[in-house]
Amino acid sequence: MDWGMKNRLSRLIQPDGRCFFMPIDHGYFQGPTTKLEKPWETIKPLLPYFDALFVTRGVLRSAIPPAIDKPIILRVSGGTSMVGKDLADEILTTSIEEALRLNASAVGLSVFIGSDYEKQTLSNLSSLVNECQRYGLPVMAVTAVGRELEKRDARYLGLCCRICAELGADVVKTYWCEEFDKVVNGCPVPVVMAGGPKVDTDREVFEFVYDGMQRGAIGINLGRNVWQNKYSVAMAAALNAIIHENATPEEAGKIIDRCN
Ligand code: 5RP
Repeated sequence: MDWGMKNRLSRLIQPDGRCFFMPIDHGYFQGPTTKLEKPWETIKPLLPYFDALFVTRGVLRSAIPPAIDKPIILRVSGGTSMVGKDLADEILTTSIEEALRLNASAVGLSVFIGSDYEKQTLSNLSSLVNECQRYGLPVMAVTAVGRELEKRDARYLGLCCRICAELGADVVKTYWCEEFDKVVNGCPVPVVMAGGPKVDTDREVFEFVYDGMQRGAIGINLGRNVWQNKYSVAMAAALNAIIHENATPEEAGKIIDRCN
């Protein structure tokens, strides 16, 4: 692995081998999203607790101060919407030149395995890896978004992650599921977990993040369950403690309780 690639990965994945990515890219397919109306106001108080920001170029340029001291993972796929024909029909939206101009530390794209656009989105991934390898830019593949999320089991998610790794993704983002170790053990590159739509209790989030970490995930790329939480700062601090300090769900819960 070349120096540039190693350097970028080391900004994303912390010395303990773990990471907390903060996604605010949701608007690229769902438009206005609760709490992302003013992205900077929402994420500024969370800065001490996450390691990198996952964002589109539009929000980066229009809402994020360039002096931000966090690595950027640039979302480079899109072209579809919640109200369109098929969310899976994505293209690559952003060039590598643009990613480098924006000083991105990595790029991220979605793949939709099992959909009508499986081949197209895996081809997007392959082309992106071909280009990014030339410039030492890591690629994060995002699996199982939208309808695909209904198939949330170790067999399907494990298949998605493995295929992404085989095609050259440097990191794979997927969802937690029962027997998550089967997903991680079948994937030769690091796996991070997303959160999905806001759930009813903080405890549910702590439980699955903790379980996933015990079973080999290196971290999270988890947004709505943080910034849509009434106590978003405490939630970010609690998740940071699970990721970087091996806190248990009980210990994480105590961090939240102090704010209530
Ligand atoms: C949306 C994404 C998000 O980055 C991902 O879903 C993580 O966010 P959340 O925890 O809110 O699900 O890729 O396409």
